[in-house]
Amino acid sequence: MKYQMLRWLCLLSLSLPLLFWLGCVIIRDNPSPAVQSNGLRGYMRITPGRTEQFLHMHCNQCALVSSSGQMLGAGVGEEIDKIGCVIRMNNAPTQGYEKDVGSRTSVRVVSHTSVPLLVKNERYYFNQSAGTTYVIWGPERNMRQDGKGRTFNALLKVAEKYPNVRIYAVTSEKVQYCDGVFQNETGKNRMKTGAFLSTGFFTMILAIEMCDSIHVYGMIDDSYCSRANHNVVPYHYYERNRIDECKMYRVHEHTQRGGHRFITEKAIYAKWATRHKMEFKHPSWVL
Ligand SMILES: *[C@@H]1O[C@H](CO)[C@@H](O)[C@H](O)[C@H]1NC(C)=O
Ligand SMILES: *[C@@H]1O[C@H](CO)[C@@H](O)[C@H](O)[C@H]1NC(C)=O
Repeated sequence: MKYQMLRWLCLLSLSLPLLFWLGCVIIRDNPSPAVQSNGLRGYMRITPGRTEQFLHMHCNQCALVSSSGQMLGAGVGEEIDKIGCVIRMNNAPTQGYEKDVGSRTSVRVVSHTSVPLLVKNERYYFNQSAGTTYVIWGPERNMRQDGKGRTFNALLKVAEKYPNVRIYAVTSEKVQYCDGVFQNETGKNRMKTGAFLSTGFFTMILAIEMCDSIHVYGMIDDSYCSRANHNVVPYHYYERNRIDECKMYRVHEHTQRGGHRFITEKAIYAKWATRHKMEFKHPSWVL
């Protein structure tokens, strides 16, 4: 009896280190964007002085507020405003939608295509909302700094006019890195398959890098649209009469050239959610 117990103990003491070692190997095989060593060096400030300044931002808790029509009637504005850092995308408004989406904005991640929309309303975005940090992503041809990058030039003008505003560009290395992440996760080359990454994808990668824990609001999962009785909502909560979200997602998923792979991207987030502190609300995800 005693002898048998000793054998068990011996086996256990041999297998525990083995399990631990296996665990380490598995974790190391799954590198996440968060453990990238150059961290926020992927975001460089746009200033007239042309000094190299990288984004320094770290939050314990982040609310990542989707622009989806799912936010209409969500009634989570107060809950969102209580969270340390609130991240929004493009020109998604808060005015008039406070009850559903909240009113604070710490960070706005903006596509090069949405920059003109911000500039059109520049007093609001860059003077009244001077407490917001802007992170702009775009292709090299628009973001190049040699005077030929249209988007970069427009942003530099804004930075000159509103010296207090904090505008950062996603560096071309970081954009390439995001392409690499997409390729590693899907096995598909983004460019060869005719896809563009969405602003949501860049936002999720930034959130993983700067937030310890992420509360995602209003994002649907990758199988939401194929479920019967799903909610039919506008693609954006602030554009009531546009095509509905699921129709838009389906069209983009199958567009040969220039489509966003919204559905594929959601499947990637579900994987990341198993390795990071991330929860999805309105609708909630079962992971
Ligand atoms: C920004 O807002 C302040 C205060 O409202 C105002 O005095 C200033 O002129 C504005 N700056 C610009 C460039 O519009
Ligand atoms: C993609 O995977 C390759 C091979 O494992 C790795 O070397 C590379 O760093 C990964 N790229 C990104 C952006 O994660």
